[in-house]
Amino acid sequence: MLEVEGLVKTFEGRHGGVVAVDGVSFTVEEGRLFSLLGPSGCGKTTLLRCVAGLERPDAGRIAVDGVTLFSATGGRFVPANRRELGMVFQSYAIWPHLSVFGNVAFPLVSRPRRRRPPKREVSARVGRVLEAVQLAELAGRPATDLSGGQQQRLALARALVTEPRLLLLDEPLSSLDLQLREEMRLELKRLQRELRVTSVYVTHDQLEALALSNMIGVMRGGRLEQVGRPRDVYTRPASRFVAGFVGSSNLFEGVVEAGGGDGHAVVRTAHGTLRARSETVAPGAAVLVVVRPEHVVLELDADDGDEGWRGVVVTRAYLGSAVDHVVAVGDVEVRSRGPVRAGTIRPGTQVRLRFEPGACTVAEADDAR
Ligand SMILES: Nc1ncnc2c1ncn2[C@@H]1O[C@H](COP(=O)(O)OP(=O)(O)OP(=O)(O)O)[C@@H](O)[C@H]1O
Ligand SMILES: [Mg+2]
Repeated sequence: MLEVEGLVKTFEGRHGGVVAVDGVSFTVEEGRLFSLLGPSGCGKTTLLRCVAGLERPDAGRIAVDGVTLFSATGGRFVPANRRELGMVFQSYAIWPHLSVFGNVAFPLVSRPRRRRPPKREVSARVGRVLEAVQLAELAGRPATDLSGGQQQRLALARALVTEPRLLLLDEPLSSLDLQLREEMRLELKRLQRELRVTSVYVTHDQLEALALSNMIGVMRGGRLEQVGRPRDVYTRPASRFVAGFVGSSNLFEGVVEAGGGDGHAVVRTAHGTLRARSETVAPGAAVLVVVRPEHVVLELDADDGDEGWRGVVVTRAYLGSAVDHVVAVGDVEVRSRGPVRAGTIRPGTQVRLRFEPGACTVAEADDAR
C-alpha cells in the first residue's frame, strides 16, 4: 500500500548538513498501522513529512497504491494537497471560530467548487465520522468548549472525513495527560480497526507503539534499526539499542557454547548459563542475551546444591498491577517483574532465578554505531 524506498533527507545548516533520514525503506500493508518508534531527533517527523509531501527528499522513492508520489531519479514530486492523505499532528490546530461540525466539515467545504461534495453529502460524512469518534452529541458546540481528549478526537475526525488513502499521525496523544492518553490509545486502536484505514503512527512511547501497531519500525539516527511485529520487536530485539529502547530488559554478555541448530543456543555468561533463542550463532561467538523482566521468575532458594543463577534481592516495588524486584547476581543487577499474587520478597533474601524457557533471545553483541 505505502512503499518507501531508500529515502534520504538532509537539512543544510550553518554548521554543516544534518542527515535526518538516512536511507529508510519500509512498506505498510493495506489497512495496517505501522509505527515509527524512536528517541527525540531520530528523524521520525522528517520521515513522516516526506511521506506527506511537506518535505522534498534528496533520494529515494515513495508510492501509495502503486502510484509514485516521489521519485528522485524520476524527478517526480506530487505536492501535499494532491496526495489525498490525512494528517494529525502533535499540535493539532482546531478552528476556534467554528463549531465541532464546522471543523470537521471544513476540509470538504473548502475544496474547489468542482471537487466539493453537495451539502447533504457533507452532512452525512461529517455525521458518520463524528459518530465514529463519539462526538456526534457535541456537533453543535463551539470547538473551544471541548476537553483535551475531545479536541484530539475532533482533530482525528477532521483527518478522516476526506476518507484519506493513508493516515499520518505524529505523536497525536503527546499533549494529553496520562489517563487520557491511555483512553485515547484504546480509542484509536478501535477506530483504526473499525475503519481499516492504513496508518503511519509516529511516537517515542514504546507502550503506545506496542499497543497500537501491526508493525513497528524502530528508528535511530535516521535509520530503521529493526522492523517487526510488536511481539517480535519486544521479545526478539535485533540490537542492544532496540532492547533498551523498547523495554527495560536484562542484557547479559556471553559466549555461545553450543547450538543454534534447533533454534536455541546455550550461552555461557559470567553468572551462569542460559538457553536462548537463536538462529544463526556459531559456537564461540560473543553475543548479547536479552531477557525481559517478566520472564525472570524468582524462587526462594531451596539451597539443594543445584547449579544455576542465584542472587540476593536488593529492592522490591509494588506497581499496582505487578511487582518488581531487583536482584544482585555477582556484580550485575537483574530485573524481575511478576504478578501481584506471587507476592514480594524482602530485600536481603537469597533467591534462585529461573528464566522462562524460550524467553531469552540472542541479540547481536556487536552493534556499536
Ligand atoms: N527544518 C529543519 N532544519 C534543520 N534541521 C532539521 C529540521 N527539521 C529537523 N531537523 C533535524 O533533523 C533531525 C531529525 O528531526 P526530526 O524532527 O525528524 O526528529 P524526531 O524523531 O521527530 O524527534 P522528536 O521525537 O523530538 O519529535 C534532528 O537532528 C533535527 O534537528
Ligand atoms: Mg517529531
